[in-house]
Amino acid sequence: MAGVTGVADAAGIAGVTGMAGLAGTTGMVSSRAEAELLDRRDPLASLRDRFVLPGGVIYLDGNSLGALPRGVAERVARAVESEWGRDLIRSWNSADWISLPRRVGARIARLVGAPQDSVIAGDSTSVQLFKLLVAAARLRPQRRVILTEPGNFPTDSYVAASVARLSGLQLRWCDPADVEASLDEDVAVLSLTHVDYRTGRMHDAAAITAAAHRAGALMLWDLAHSAGAVPVALQQWDADLAVGCGYKYLCGGPGAPAFAYVHPRWQEALDQPLAGWMGHAAPFALERDYRPAAGIGRVATGTPPVLSMVALDAALDAFDGVSIDALRTKSLALTELFGQLADERLATYGVSVASPREPAQRGSQVSLRHEQAYAVVQALIARGVVGDYREPDLARFGFAPLYIPFVDVWDAVEQLASVLAAEEWRRPEHQVRAGVT
Ligand SMILES: Cc1ncc(COP(=O)(O)O)c(C=O)c1O
Repeated sequence: MAGVTGVADAAGIAGVTGMAGLAGTTGMVSSRAEAELLDRRDPLASLRDRFVLPGGVIYLDGNSLGALPRGVAERVARAVESEWGRDLIRSWNSADWISLPRRVGARIARLVGAPQDSVIAGDSTSVQLFKLLVAAARLRPQRRVILTEPGNFPTDSYVAASVARLSGLQLRWCDPADVEASLDEDVAVLSLTHVDYRTGRMHDAAAITAAAHRAGALMLWDLAHSAGAVPVALQQWDADLAVGCGYKYLCGGPGAPAFAYVHPRWQEALDQPLAGWMGHAAPFALERDYRPAAGIGRVATGTPPVLSMVALDAALDAFDGVSIDALRTKSLALTELFGQLADERLATYGVSVASPREPAQRGSQVSLRHEQAYAVVQALIARGVVGDYREPDLARFGFAPLYIPFVDVWDAVEQLASVLAAEEWRRPEHQVRAGVT
């Protein structure tokens, strides 16, 4: 497929939508036809063809589970039928299963602005976080504090609390609006999520990383809601450590492997706690004692989940030739339009936009506040518009720029307006809480 690259394309859509996406163009899109026009002029529009998307569904939950990229099912079927079924154990070598964590990591590295040999795929985000937080504490043995924010994703806070207990450290909470105020000579590591899972608020990662370093602390970023959707420049930010999800914007499928990044300056000193044979310098030497592999390989622990790795590897083809800057331009235009239409058409029903208006502070999602947000989302799903709900009152909509067209934004707001006008959310079936919200 032809490359879909940077500046010209980004300028193309900026030209259609105003400047920096739709920023500052309130009132500009006032009909479905105008949204369709944006799609016709969108240089990234053809990327949607790289996905299998069901008809009759507007899918605005790619920030939770990315859509299925074309080619993944076939690639996984081949791994099952030929590599596993026919070639059996030989595939560890012949299909190079063994290097999947490194190979997939290298492909993710491009998407998060990291050097080639600094990212590895595997485990879940929670497990990667555990490994890197303990490793960070070990790199700063004189310091007693792990610093995070109270609104961090719960797994980040739970893991940080457990690492603190395990390592004899203290967990300290900072104000996300003034992180620097909580940084001092006691802080070993500052652990933050770049894009907030509730509101989509995005931190100024370069500035916060610099502040952490001024205090002598290490900086760890959770990129769960960033990788594949917004520009991430781990090397340029000078981040020490990072983790992120494979199943959200990277589209690796349910429970896809996560990834871990370690800045090259720390790789040879990194001492992560889940020392397993796959992180050993010579796994098949089967030595009695652990000797960590050189470089990023030491972050690995056990046997990689090959079928999930294969799915994630194939999914990453959807990003081939795509510039993240171009994706960002489109993402901002989508979220700007959604926010603008929500203001115009939904405020009268008690809906307010909970996500930042300022483009530099907004990820690739828009959350709406409504006191019956859970039931509203259920009623919307019944109409074929899929978003999700987060406590206590947020309806969350993710705009994966690879496959969401502008017309979906228009239609989703139309449907929301109908749900609210008819108070469809009052129906008893929409009030029932499912296990996963
Ligand atoms: C910021 C953040 N970190 C981590 C996770 C999930 O971690 P895991 O891969 O362990 O399920 C999520 C899930 O939504 C998340 O939003």
